[in-house]
Amino acid sequence: MSPTILAIESSCDDTSAAVISGGKVLANIVATQEVHKQYGGVVPELASRAHQQNIVPVVTQALLTAKITKNDLDAVAFTRGPGLLGALLVGSSFAKAFALGLQLTLIEVNHMQAHILAHFIDEPKPQFPFLCLTVSGGHTQIVLVKDYLQMQVLGQTTDDAVGEAFDKSAKLLGLPYPGGPLLDRTAATGNPDRFTFPIVSMPGYDYSFSGIKTSILYFLRENTTKNPNFIAENLPDICASIQNALIKTLLNKLILAAKETGIRQIAIAGGVSANSGLRKALTEAATKYNWQVYIPDFQYCTDNAAMIAIAAHYKFLQGEFTDQYASPDPRYKL
Ligand code: KG4
Ligand code: ZN
Repeated sequence: MSPTILAIESSCDDTSAAVISGGKVLANIVATQEVHKQYGGVVPELASRAHQQNIVPVVTQALLTAKITKNDLDAVAFTRGPGLLGALLVGSSFAKAFALGLQLTLIEVNHMQAHILAHFIDEPKPQFPFLCLTVSGGHTQIVLVKDYLQMQVLGQTTDDAVGEAFDKSAKLLGLPYPGGPLLDRTAATGNPDRFTFPIVSMPGYDYSFSGIKTSILYFLRENTTKNPNFIAENLPDICASIQNALIKTLLNKLILAAKETGIRQIAIAGGVSANSGLRKALTEAATKYNWQVYIPDFQYCTDNAAMIAIAAHYKFLQGEFTDQYASPDPRYKL
């Protein structure tokens, strides 16, 4: 069977709906909430309200773009978690009501699993088993992917996620939220070896990013005391040096995991996989360690419903359905 599925993503500050048919994405509409910019971070209550406003137009647009009607659907999928509870409630309640009204099959999806399965939207697709470095605003994990729905977390952050480290560093430099992409762009013309920030090594395959953030804070405090224009005069070099430390930290454990598991199929996923420095470092590591690397298309790196749709497609094929008793889980584990 080639199911046609409507998928909803509402775990954080993007309201998104996608349509997939026979494993092919027909539409992927994303409404990014601008309201959070003025607060320098995502405000959960405002995210829920914006999801509530966006969800009907986004779903309508997805069906129109896919050139189908609701009667063509076999199932509706939603993000169960992890994410913000209020935000997840909007998407899951909408999906449940939609499924109830149209008597459709309901599928719940793990957001982190979906980030990884985004690799199966387009060619080239990784072969099992592969390692996936999942890097987002909420997570930093090295995952052993055994099959579409069989995944094992080998290591993860013990404190901040790397996306958070990017955003918080950018904030310390006075860059507007979300600072990660802006820090990346500013780093492009900077010298990554000009300043040194710590590369923290945790036991096993785990990560820690809170120390880097603190060291950046002290570094800026010390230098701006000596020269109030220090940030303005050195911004590209500071950004490039911070990015360099964060990427080296990520790569060190990934290289270790690849070495110890003997796996040379390596993928990255999640919002931070849009980072140009990380993409470049991974491509260089591929040559050095003889890896086959998989880097998703930009539109499938940050939050989107197409990844929820592809995950739902595989769950549908394996008969993994849920029912009207389903409820969101903000800490839903892989
Ligand atoms: O996966 P995602 O869209 O949402 C979560 O599930 O968290 O990831 C968002 C994170 C943010 O921290 C954002 O700053 C970061 O991804 N990000 C980047 C870049 N693009 C997005 N970080 C560094 N460089 C980028 N180019
Ligand atoms: Zn995400």
